[in-house]
Amino acid sequence: MAIKFGRPIEMRDTPRRETALSAPSLDLVVRPRRNRKAEWARRMVRENVLTTDDLIWPLFVADGHDKRTPVVSMPGVDRLSVDQAVREAERAVKLNIPCIALFPYTDPGLRDERGSEAVNPDNLVCQSVRAIKKEFPELGVLCDVALDPFTSHGHDGLIEDGKILNDATVTVLVRQALVQAEAGCDIIAPSDMMDGRVGAIREGLDAAGFLDVQIMSYAAKYASAFYGPFRDAVGSAKTLTGDKRTYQMDNANSDEALREVELDIAEGADMVMVKPGMPYLDIVRRVKDTFGMPTFVYQVSGEYAMIMAASHNNWIDGERAMMESLLAFKRAGANGILTYFAPHAAEKLKNES
Ligand code: PBG
Repeated sequence: MAIKFGRPIEMRDTPRRETALSAPSLDLVVRPRRNRKAEWARRMVRENVLTTDDLIWPLFVADGHDKRTPVVSMPGVDRLSVDQAVREAERAVKLNIPCIALFPYTDPGLRDERGSEAVNPDNLVCQSVRAIKKEFPELGVLCDVALDPFTSHGHDGLIEDGKILNDATVTVLVRQALVQAEAGCDIIAPSDMMDGRVGAIREGLDAAGFLDVQIMSYAAKYASAFYGPFRDAVGSAKTLTGDKRTYQMDNANSDEALREVELDIAEGADMVMVKPGMPYLDIVRRVKDTFGMPTFVYQVSGEYAMIMAASHNNWIDGERAMMESLLAFKRAGANGILTYFAPHAAEKLKNES
């Protein structure tokens, strides 16, 4: 389904010559506006660029055949049956998007306390990886590791007496990562925020011979209101009991993000991620400056939904807001962006080149 933005806002952008009617000259020598006088001049001094290489496209997969179900809180985003996910993978290849990310909508009947479906080698994510890799072996495929799309309580980990268990959860996450790697996944992306999971997953992957499977850790992941529409998409919004504040980070913290990132690097993460995106650009910048690692950022579902909702009301120019938000991540130091706008941004970049 093609997404529709609101009507574009007309912008005048022509250089002017000062006339006698203007205010008297200030006798300025330094005029920063000179470098902004025309598009060619702005292009010469532009510090950051967005390219399709920067984009990772998250897709939601669900049961069925030839089926697409719109996610109401994410206009333009559908849950896709596996065959349709393969078609979107083809679109990614044609648009030169290097990598897609897969998230499942698990049938409620398959969800249980322990998230057992996560370790089923034939679950929706594994089926999708196999189908996509078969047709498009050159497209990067990233799989999220966490139990929330599979648990009846909507948490990322196992629960006992109302507490999220750390070490027992990590054991399951390693098995989840292994079934995904066996299916052909290129990048394992743990989003659960359990302590020690990156090291355990690295060890598990290496022991099973998956030496080249990369880990992109959701290293600094905050407990955020901006995940709401995603939880609609994977069907965990209604089932989630309580919140995720005992494992996801406190919004108020910044130094702690550096400690989290440092740990994940020490445990073997190849790439690190900050999430959400726009409200945490300061964290992206600090992480990049401190570690110089390949640093990614997730423009999450709520950020997408806000831009789309305002755009549909004609309150903002959605397409320009999209491009501005994506460039902001580059300016903050990100090497890449997980974004639901990926195909639309890639189309725009293609048309402009
Ligand atoms: C699952 C996970 C979440 C997102 C990515 N992986 C939700 C959560 O932690 O509750 C959010 C992505 C988005 O909002 O777009 N652990």
